[in-house]
Amino acid sequence: MCVNRVFCVSLQPEKQYLNIMATINVDVKNVLGTVTAEQIQALDPEAASALEKLHKGTGLGNDFLGWVNLPSEITDAHLADIEATAKALNDECDYIVAVGIGGSYLGAKAVIEALADQFAQLRPMDDPRRCRVLFAGQNIGEDYLNELQDFLADKKFGIIVISKSGTTTEPAIAFRLLKEQLEKQVGKETAARRIVAITDEKKGALRQLATEEGYKTFIIPDNVGGRFSVLTPVGLLPIAAAGYDIRALVEGARAMQAATVAEGDGNLSWLYATTRNALYRAGKKIEIMVNYNPKLHFFGEWWKQLYGESEGKDHKGIFPASVDFSTDLHSMGQWIQDGERTIFETVLSVEEVAHNTVIPSDDANLDGLNYLAGKRVDEVNKMAELGTRIAHVDGGVPVIRVTIPALKEKYLGELIYFFEKACGISGYLLEVNPFNQPGVEDYKRNMFALLEKPGYEEATAAIKSRI
Ligand code: PA5
Repeated sequence: MCVNRVFCVSLQPEKQYLNIMATINVDVKNVLGTVTAEQIQALDPEAASALEKLHKGTGLGNDFLGWVNLPSEITDAHLADIEATAKALNDECDYIVAVGIGGSYLGAKAVIEALADQFAQLRPMDDPRRCRVLFAGQNIGEDYLNELQDFLADKKFGIIVISKSGTTTEPAIAFRLLKEQLEKQVGKETAARRIVAITDEKKGALRQLATEEGYKTFIIPDNVGGRFSVLTPVGLLPIAAAGYDIRALVEGARAMQAATVAEGDGNLSWLYATTRNALYRAGKKIEIMVNYNPKLHFFGEWWKQLYGESEGKDHKGIFPASVDFSTDLHSMGQWIQDGERTIFETVLSVEEVAHNTVIPSDDANLDGLNYLAGKRVDEVNKMAELGTRIAHVDGGVPVIRVTIPALKEKYLGELIYFFEKACGISGYLLEVNPFNQPGVEDYKRNMFALLEKPGYEEATAAIKSRI
């Protein structure tokens, strides 16, 4: 194994690694005090087998591998259809409510939050930075829904309703409420024009409703699970509706698809998957996804679902957590520095921020900050990152660092595919089926039983006898 490569693998364009224009960077040198390069490399044969299972479809859950070649299979016509639908919604609506949960929510939310102005929702209507996309159906909060409906009462709005199964309770409740409201506000015909449904091609209640009501629809492919669906219309339509460049997003994912085909630690997904599994086998059971940019908060949420739902099975799996630094250094910093040594960090680092803000000098200097005068805020942030990394490594927390040049669609597309591919490899390294989620059904069964859903009579009697 090339030591330099293990220390820091880069796919920057000038290096033309594998002649592929992907730009993110993975640096694992700060795990080497906990595991050796040889321990990481020892996983290579298993990683080769995992990669082959993903490429040849010979592993567990192989009916859910549609995401593997998805970026390169997306056609221009498909993107044009999504863009035209987003435009039609925007032409008619000031707000678009994306209704969905889990994999039908987090990818779009993560990308939009990463790209959007932080105060987008507060901007005036005519400000191009304003974000039109709101979210619903990602919780069962009565107050959330009530306040959203109240906000929308005098607004021109449309709905993108997203559910692969078409039967998930949270989005179904939100959609029922919003559909009724929209129909009351603008009439059934206009409402039908302002509603787009993204669901299974044939089955499920949402498909049936969409057909009956004549909604524009997009299909979630059968072989793409919810948490791997951000590059289908599930993610692409809300992202396009929010005004972002889905072609660049897909282009980034394509570059990463091409860059993660080969075996070996030059494949960033391979490197990340083998490193985190070497750490897991060395007793590091918890991975904390760290960002130093508040715009990445929801990227951490998306990542947690991807890894948590894919790996937490058969009483195995790295527990995925996430924090926003430096904010959470003031709440979780103590635990991370000095608590039980079962954690490692993956830091998501953004090289260039979008704006330039310089700290001013102050004559009185009562806060003692003049030593920072003239420096950019991001320079302070970068030093916070570096100082924290050194402190955490010194404190026994191995750190993987994933760097992207900037928060732009192309790099986010790379990052999404990078984590998806690594997740597939990693799940097979753990010897679980990374593409099912049987555990998610248990709470639903109990909830339906408690709510006395027809068909759950026996379960209702059983659960009521326990409370
Ligand atoms: O990844 C998954 O499969 C889940 O998180 C689903 O996306 C989530 O439960 C929503 O399901 P659906 O799209 O069927 O409403």
